[in-house]
Amino acid sequence: MQINKIEKLKQMLAENKENYKEVLENTKVEFENGKISKEERNDIINSISKTYSENCSFISEEIAQAKIEKKIKAKKDKQIQKSYLKELKKDLKAKKEFDFTGDIVMENVSYTYSKNSPFEFRALDNADLVLEKGKITCVIGTTGSGKSTMIQLTNGLLISETGRTKIGDYQIPAGIKKIPNVKKLRKEIGLVFQFPEYQLFRDTVEKDISFGPINMGGNKENAIKSVPELLKLVELPADYLTRSPFELSGGQKRRVAIAGIIAMDGNTLVLDEPTGGLDPKGEEDFMRLFKKLNKEKNKRIIMVTHNMDQVLKIADQVVVMHEGKLIDKGTPFEIFSNRQLLEKIEIEPPKLFRLMYLLKDKGIDLLGQEIRTVEEFAVAFKNRK
Ligand SMILES: Nc1ncnc2c1ncn2[C@@H]1O[C@H](COP(=O)(O)OP(=O)(O)OP(=O)(O)O)[C@@H](O)[C@H]1O
Ligand SMILES: [Mg+2]
Repeated sequence: MQINKIEKLKQMLAENKENYKEVLENTKVEFENGKISKEERNDIINSISKTYSENCSFISEEIAQAKIEKKIKAKKDKQIQKSYLKELKKDLKAKKEFDFTGDIVMENVSYTYSKNSPFEFRALDNADLVLEKGKITCVIGTTGSGKSTMIQLTNGLLISETGRTKIGDYQIPAGIKKIPNVKKLRKEIGLVFQFPEYQLFRDTVEKDISFGPINMGGNKENAIKSVPELLKLVELPADYLTRSPFELSGGQKRRVAIAGIIAMDGNTLVLDEPTGGLDPKGEEDFMRLFKKLNKEKNKRIIMVTHNMDQVLKIADQVVVMHEGKLIDKGTPFEIFSNRQLLEKIEIEPPKLFRLMYLLKDKGIDLLGQEIRTVEEFAVAFKNRK
């Protein structure tokens, strides 16, 4: 609702520069009535100031106010950051080992790419999130909404600009230069990149898959011995051991990258569009594998995907990203039965939900039920009141 309002104001401005006064007045009224937040108001003021780079004395007061507020917030964030750093230092002194198995908690995390350059872009804005231990969380949102950015905070590949990320009893405060225990952290929270090319770097598949465990100080012989089994798990032929990962297809590379992360045997798998480039059967097989790792080995799975049918099938929790903001979270049933939300983020619901929406329009309402599969749907349909 709010975003629509802001977009409308920006649209007015885009249509005609001369609308600035009306936009400014509207913004003021909306802000004073508590309809839009300070950040949102500042955002609009900045748009006006960009559109009207000259002769904008009329908004100078507003801009000055916005700047002051921004400064106050930045100062507060810095203070919080300092206290987190202090806490971390204390933890590092007190604990020999950290337990990375507990909830992953993001507190007020933000991330800006190319800060202080003309390409500066805030990809993640003050997000709060809990990724529970042992659960499957799917992250959804249109392209560029900040999904990859957000999940890269879970193992310190990116470090937030504000707030902190807690992983069990360990924490990564915003702005920290060097992450302590980074090897152990990345072993426990294994991340498969959206583009597997970034991940593969050894000259054979065998070396690539066994690299992680060996690098962690594991027994080299054992690590190499377990590779054939891992290849089987990701359904690659055994003779791929000696092949170069760079000569494989996109889908095969992805399989090798996933095998390498499973080889680390950490407690969490973070998967960024893990089934991109796979055929439907490959996709289905991997979803089954992730679910199995979750159910049988209690692995926490955090997965970015554009396939809503798969989200419905496996997710315990769904996190919704939109324009760098975490705008909603809930069970797949809660998220997919929220038609307004799906329209706003321009995401088609899973096929089963599309069917249930059509049925609802015809007077048969199954939307309140927790239906994940065609089989469950059939039972619910038969037993409908
Ligand atoms: N290295 C970078 N430098 C500058 N901007 C970046 C960089 N990486 C990402 N961005 C921008 O940050 C925003 C969020 O990017 P991100 O990769 O997190 O999106 P995403 O939700 O994962 O998208 P997709 O579904 O396409 O993978 C995008 O607008 C993107 O253009
Ligand atoms: Mg991405």
